[in-house]
Formats: sequence, structure tokens, C-alpha cells
Amino acid sequence: MTEHIDGKRLHEDLRYRFEYIAKFINFTSDDVKALNAFATTALPLVPVIVDAVYRKLFQFDITKEFFVLRNDGFDGRLKKDEVLTLDSAQMAYRRDMLSDYLKRLLLQHEWADDFLQYLSRIGRLHGSKTGQGSINVDYIHMNATLCYVETLLIDSVWHTENLDNKAKKEILIAINKAFRIQNDLLLLHYLESSKESDASTRHTAKKCVCS
Ligand code: HEM
Repeated sequence: MTEHIDGKRLHEDLRYRFEYIAKFINFTSDDVKALNAFATTALPLVPVIVDAVYRKLFQFDITKEFFVLRNDGFDGRLKKDEVLTLDSAQMAYRRDMLSDYLKRLLLQHEWADDFLQYLSRIGRLHGSKTGQGSINVDYIHMNATLCYVETLLIDSVWHTENLDNKAKKEILIAINKAFRIQNDLLLLHYLESSKESDASTRHTAKKCVCS
């Protein structure tokens, strides 16, 4: 039996989009339970992971510059000639935001609308499609960061001693699915849908300027 999916609605209705992907990759309440179970082990590791992520983002000027430029929502602006370091107050504030994000991802019991909106808001904040209000981080950095975070989580599952192999496998699969869903809700704010793009180029491969 073929199920009809409304391509237009996928771009207009977050819940509909999530339910389609969840059905496609079989992301169920069992995956959510696996993430919740892992949270007990992972929560003490969150500050370590967040620290590693910011070290990584400060390793390259192209990613570090976003934090030097951006101070919104933070009262203690950099003083004249002050150099931004990982220990600056701004970065403690940023670390808290990323910690909250990781905790929510692992602890969330219901992937209800408000949580989907939160995941999508991350895309809207960083994305290139949304214009005003966006910090316009190129997708290459988002993809790399998401992969880096996921790898750190996979590594911590692997090294957890009080989990058997079955539990580890379930958690690893759940982490993978959750990050693919987050990735989709990032891409939503980067890519044009085929409906929005020029009809004449539809179904034809776009030329890659890299090659
Ligand atoms: C894909 C992985 C990423 C995740 C999950 C993530 C997550 C977040 C979250 C949760 C916030 C706080 C949003 C809020 O509630 O206001 C935030 C803000 C921010 N992110 Fe990311 N981020 C990612 C990648 C990046 C990258 C690669 C950069 C830069 C190279 C970046 C730069 C920033 C900046 C500058 C802010 C502060 C925005 C502001 O001033 O309000 N992020 N990010």
C-alpha cells in the first residue's frame, strides 16, 4: 500500500514533516526511551562535550569569528581591545545554551510541537534562508558541528560500562535518528524546496560550482 505524502505540506507543517520522517526512519517512542535512558549516564558528560565543541569552533577562524561578532542577548559586551577566549563571560553564556540544548535532546519525553519548534528555531537562527535575525552560519559548519557532537555522544555510549550491547545498540540508533531529524530541521532553513525553485530546473541536477 502506498501512502500519500503531501510535498507542499512537508514545507508548511512542522508536525506533518516530522511525522513523515519519523515514519520513514522508524523513529518511535522506543528511540525516545533509549535517549532518556542514556541521559542518566550522559548528563554529567554534557559540560565536557560542550567544552570540546567550543574548543573545536575556536580552532578555526571561520567558525570562531561568529562568536567574536555576535553578542546579542548578552549584557557583558567585550570591552575595547578585549580578546575573546574560551573563558570569556560570553562563552560561558554560549556554553549554557548548548548544554541546555543537549540536555533537552536527551531528556525530552514527548517530541511534541513545542520541541519540534525549538529544533527548527535552531535552524532558523543559524540558517541562510531566513534573512533578518539569522546569524547566517554556512551549512558546512553546521554539518561538521553536528557530526562532531554526535561522534562525542557515540563515543560516550561506547565507553559506558553499565550498559549491555543491546542497550548500546538501541541508544546508538536512537542518537543517529535524532540527529538526522535535527539535521532535517536545520536544512529546512538552508535549502529551497523543489516547489520554490525554478520549475525549469526541477528534477535536473544543479551544477556544482565546486567541481
Ligand atoms: C549544528 C550544531 C549547532 C547547534 C545544535 C547549535 C545550537 C545553538 C543553540 C541552542 C543556540 C542558542 C539559541 C537560543 O536559544 O537563542 C546557539 C546560538 C549560537 N550559535 Fe549555534 N549551534 C550549532 C552550530 C553553530 C555553529 C557551527 C556556529 C558558528 C560557527 C554557531 C554559532 C552560534 C552563535 C554565534 C550563537 C549565538 C546567537 C545569539 O547571539 O543569539 N552555532 N546555537
